[in-house]
Amino acid sequence: MKFRTISRVIHYRNRSPSIQLHSYRVISHLHSAPKRPSFGVAFDIDGVILRGRSPIGDSPKALRRLYDDDSGSLKIPYLFLTNGGGIPESRRAAELSQILGVNIDPLQVVQGHSPFKNLLARLENELVVATGKGEPAVVMAEYGFKKAVSIDEYASYFDSIDPLSPYKTWTTKQPCNEQRNSSESVPSFDVTSERVKAAFVVSDPVDWSRDIQVLCDILRSGGLPGEKSEHQPDMYFAADDLEYQSVFPSERLGMGAFRIALESIFNSIHHKPLKYTSFGKPNPFVFKNAESILMQLQSLISDGDINGDNKDMKIHHFETLYMIGDNPSVDIKGARQAGHPWFSILTRTGVFRGKENHTDYPADKVVNTVEEAVEFILHREAGFS
Ligand code: G3P
Ligand code: MG
Repeated sequence: MKFRTISRVIHYRNRSPSIQLHSYRVISHLHSAPKRPSFGVAFDIDGVILRGRSPIGDSPKALRRLYDDDSGSLKIPYLFLTNGGGIPESRRAAELSQILGVNIDPLQVVQGHSPFKNLLARLENELVVATGKGEPAVVMAEYGFKKAVSIDEYASYFDSIDPLSPYKTWTTKQPCNEQRNSSESVPSFDVTSERVKAAFVVSDPVDWSRDIQVLCDILRSGGLPGEKSEHQPDMYFAADDLEYQSVFPSERLGMGAFRIALESIFNSIHHKPLKYTSFGKPNPFVFKNAESILMQLQSLISDGDINGDNKDMKIHHFETLYMIGDNPSVDIKGARQAGHPWFSILTRTGVFRGKENHTDYPADKVVNTVEEAVEFILHREAGFS
């Protein structure tokens, strides 16, 4: 399993010039038999690394410290562990590389919706509806879902499903990438007669009133608006953040707020409560998954077993994994629940602004910025500064 995953990374690298360079750096580094780091780092994005699309807390400088000064190769295994999303991991990696000035591999990007790919075995060939900003259906298609339709497109097949749509005159000049604009992109299956088997909230929903209306229609009709059925299709949320830090000075409502709105309305108009599953931090499996990815990165840095030929490759467990986050009830709660080897670091650049530690979810360490967090880690892990 591990070997297969590493081979896939090489494949990605071969397809992208910037990643190829990164790959070369890893290989050349491997030949010098570096010291194996016994620690790894998981960075939250919103409120720690970025605000909107702008770096904060000296994040580019902080990240550069995880690379070898001379060769530029990755020295310390790290990844981004965000509850955000809306575009495929490969595109997010390219975007982050450009904003932050370091080569980031798609393997290093874990988004709220990344675990959705684990549902493929059951839903690969079923009609699923994907909601949220960005390109939610493209995300699902990249994971392998063959019949994923965005809620924008799905709603467009049902006349007057949103009675408020004629009043929504604020639509942007830029057409949404996913919008149907030619006959080629019309699905080869009949969306209006096939039942939706699952609804996914992939990223923060844009048009809450339309999305709540259409999701309620899907969920209480057994997956076909206008029909009647007792069966509720599956409902998945990529994360459950009530609020998060974006560009505006105070926190913005997140996917958890949308979930509360949908659930509260659904439970008021339907006789059975909404059944749903939320992914993302603070769920312990997110931290387990991050740990296994960091192990793969650690192997790439120090073992050189890039082809997966060495069947005796040992798994080296980490002594410490650092979670650097800004949201006590998401990042810090998650790291605390995950337990050993996680060590939580809370920054003051996002949701948390307190002077002391957070009362309900105190972190192992509180710092002002991500740069300070990395400085603290490198000092603590003497030999890697
Ligand atoms: O929409 C993004 C937000 O919910 C959280 O992102 O990077 O702080 O986990 P992040
Ligand atoms: Mg955050």
